[in-house]
Amino acid sequence: MGKDVYTAIVLAAGKGRRMKSGIQKQFLELKGKPVVYYSLKCFQESSLIRDIILVTGEEDIPYCQKKMVEELGISKIKKIIPGGAERYDSVYQGLLACDTPDYVLIHDGARPFITEEIVEKGCADVKKTGACVVGMPVKDTIKIGNEEGFVEATPDRSRVWMIQTPQIFEYSLIRNAYESILGKDMRGITDDAMIVEHESGVKVCLSPGSYQNIKITTPEDFVIAQAFLDYGTVEEKIQEKN
Ligand code: CTP
Ligand code: MG
Repeated sequence: MGKDVYTAIVLAAGKGRRMKSGIQKQFLELKGKPVVYYSLKCFQESSLIRDIILVTGEEDIPYCQKKMVEELGISKIKKIIPGGAERYDSVYQGLLACDTPDYVLIHDGARPFITEEIVEKGCADVKKTGACVVGMPVKDTIKIGNEEGFVEATPDRSRVWMIQTPQIFEYSLIRNAYESILGKDMRGITDDAMIVEHESGVKVCLSPGSYQNIKITTPEDFVIAQAFLDYGTVEEKIQEKN
């Protein structure tokens, strides 16, 4: 059996409305490099990943070509393509642009702190069923509210996970699931696993990521991201102090 081929689809076509910054959050600089560079670099350095599809705004394609490929040397980027209005539109464009890999890793360009370990573990876990999402157990108690603003239910915290990316799938599974859901009501679809959950009977594996694998969503996340970069990995620091 030949080596499995993994393609990473990196999403950087969002407008970043909740971030309220002049520049889209995926292009804000952290230690002199754009946010999206950090995850591209991780995929570039991972021996598992054959190629990268970068999805961005039509108007940002020339900048990405120059900055990420020519200047910062992310040579695994095979295509830089325009995304769509919603995240799932951008993912679908990314899926269409793939050159028939065995597996795809769909990753938010606004999540700079993925690591080689997360990628390796996810790529192993996807083999269980063909679908796997990286996430972590929640730390806070979660409550479901009703429309009047009162508590309706409190799910058992030990079973509630916050979901991160990458989300990793057999290419044919996710491609078929997307083809099957397109044209249906897609409101409320916020991740790729939901599409597999709706459109196939395949069980999605939860693969532990890290609490550092945050998505830069609102301004305070950017401050946290800067702190992570200044501080180094949290695990190293805690060991140093004890
Ligand atoms: N994304 C994308 N295409 C879209 C929407 C989102 O490629 N039409 C990407 C974003 O660039 C980001 C990731 O998907 O890397 C996660 O989305 P989110 O955090 O929601 O980013 P934005 O949609 O840009 O932000 P907001 O929802 O606050 O507008
Ligand atoms: Mg969004």
